[in-house]
Amino acid sequence: MFFPQFRARRIRGSETFRRMVRETSLSVNDLVYPMFSAFGSGIRKEISSMPGIYQQSIENIVAEAKEVHDLGIPAVLLFGIPETKDAVGSDAYSDTGIIQETIRALKKEVSGLAVITDVCMCEYTDHGHCGIIKNGDVDNDSTLELLAREALSHVQAGADMVAPSDMMDGRVGAIREILDENGYDATPIMSYAVKYASGYYGPFREAAESTPQFGDRRSYQMDPANRREALLEAAADIEEGADIIMVKPGLPYLDILRDLRNEFDLPLAVYNVSGEYSMVKGAAERGWIEEERVVLETMTAFKRAGADIIITYHAKDVAKWLAK
Ligand code: PBG
Ligand code: ZN
Repeated sequence: MFFPQFRARRIRGSETFRRMVRETSLSVNDLVYPMFSAFGSGIRKEISSMPGIYQQSIENIVAEAKEVHDLGIPAVLLFGIPETKDAVGSDAYSDTGIIQETIRALKKEVSGLAVITDVCMCEYTDHGHCGIIKNGDVDNDSTLELLAREALSHVQAGADMVAPSDMMDGRVGAIREILDENGYDATPIMSYAVKYASGYYGPFREAAESTPQFGDRRSYQMDPANRREALLEAAADIEEGADIIMVKPGLPYLDILRDLRNEFDLPLAVYNVSGEYSMVKGAAERGWIEEERVVLETMTAFKRAGADIIITYHAKDVAKWLAK
């Protein structure tokens, strides 16, 4: 059917028609808000490259989490900035670590808000890598043991879901096994299944104080040039027991998101990472783009590409815009 029989504009002529034929919708239920919990008290320090995002001590995390919950956002994703870091990231799996204390406070003070924790070593190691260093590189198998302990301690403190982001091989299986052995077979794992070695994590490393002190993460995170490998990574994590799989970063990898949506039926998450946020905020501050319009368009793109869950620093703003 071609012009003049077909006129694509007929159903674009009014907002009512546009609403009726809209293929993708965005809801507050789709959102997860990341937060950075810092050891200490009275801390609320804005990340210079991420306007509106703060490192905060527990009482301030709790206060903001209440606001997040009141906006209808179902979950937060927690990152920790410990008091001290060491070679083996001890605070990551300490019962009195920064995340464990934060989880307990949130579960006590903000009922109904799901607490998801990032499981990784880089925020807790003095060298800033995502695992144990042996012979100048991150050692896969000895790291698995620590990641499993970390995940278990998060869940014992009350975490509702754990999200391993380290990119070690076999970590989903190791975490699933330790959780099951300890009676937490009902706790889901959201795996950062497809995580690329990306320049877009730059601002996050200031926020989490997790910049590698030597080298980079290319020996464990994925090469941005690879597409088929994403399917392999996702299939492996599903086989090991992942409940939700994630693609990260978001906007530069929409093709990968769509590939995973077409291939797998598990819920699919996307992480709209720090650098993506900083670029939008920076351009909006200069008046170069319209922030609300650009952010909502980006969120819609994630949904259209196949995401069910969007992890984003824009979550609070999106919730407010959607409620208007
Ligand atoms: C930890 C982790 C990172 C992010 C989430 N978990 C950083 C990294 O891998 O270097 C990035 C999140 C963001 O940029 O917003 N492994
Ligand atoms: Zn890490």
